[in-house]
Amino acid sequence: MGIYKLEKAYKTYKSKNEENHALNGIDLSITEGEIVIILGPSGSGKSTMLNILSGIDFLTKGKVYFNNQRLDRMKEEELTNYRKENLGFIFQSYNLISNLTVKENIELGKELSNTPLSMETIIKEVGLKDHVHKYPYQLSGGQMQRVAIARALVKNPKVLFCDEPTGALDEKTGKNVLALLQKINQKYHTTMIIVTHNPSIAQMGNTVIRMNSGKIVETIHNKEIVDAKDLRWA
Ligand SMILES: Nc1ncnc2c1ncn2[C@@H]1O[C@H](COP(=O)(O)OP(=O)(O)O)[C@@H](O)[C@H]1O
Ligand SMILES: [Mg+2]
Repeated sequence: MGIYKLEKAYKTYKSKNEENHALNGIDLSITEGEIVIILGPSGSGKSTMLNILSGIDFLTKGKVYFNNQRLDRMKEEELTNYRKENLGFIFQSYNLISNLTVKENIELGKELSNTPLSMETIIKEVGLKDHVHKYPYQLSGGQMQRVAIARALVKNPKVLFCDEPTGALDEKTGKNVLALLQKINQKYHTTMIIVTHNPSIAQMGNTVIRMNSGKIVETIHNKEIVDAKDLRWA
């Protein structure tokens, strides 16, 4: 039994006489502690998938489970607690608060959690020890993404959702950020669900899901996991 399960999941938008299935009858199981890479062209349903699993959006039909609990039956308050206690998020655009320092940005994550990790540990883990008093504008893109990762991780989340985490980064910096995620996954067994356009990233996933038109068209379980540093960048 996986940490997540989707059964015959549909997300359908209606306009006049047309139905558009953002998710078109998806069955899926995600195992705790794995890195799942979701690939697919724009409009294939990747963000919808993340939003359903993270309880931000709702299915039109079907079931979604988190650790055997039906997310689709939870009330808004239960969903808020579910997110607060279990989830971290990382986005392409970092979403840092510009008038707070690195340390203060990371502390925001800590305040969201009842079981946070120590600030010192996380700051060291992401390699920002010498930058804690800087503001986001004084950082490079890679450093800003490290702050976002630290802010998500200090919560000590069971699951980390990443929507295009390296979308704004060059190859070298992107690989460094992915190597950091890989290290965190190995050390804390955080389940990671990473959405990306970049097929190179697939080689570091335990599972790779390829989506098209709201369907899963291929699922690959990698026998060998490639170190993020050694990814062949497309
Ligand atoms: N709020 C919405 N209203 C109508 N259609 C939507 C809405 N959100 C997403 N869609 C449609 O659902 C499909 C999947 O979108 P999305 O999950 O954002 O794809 P991706 O993240 O892979 O680019 C697209 O056809 C998109 O236009
Ligand atoms: Mg998207």
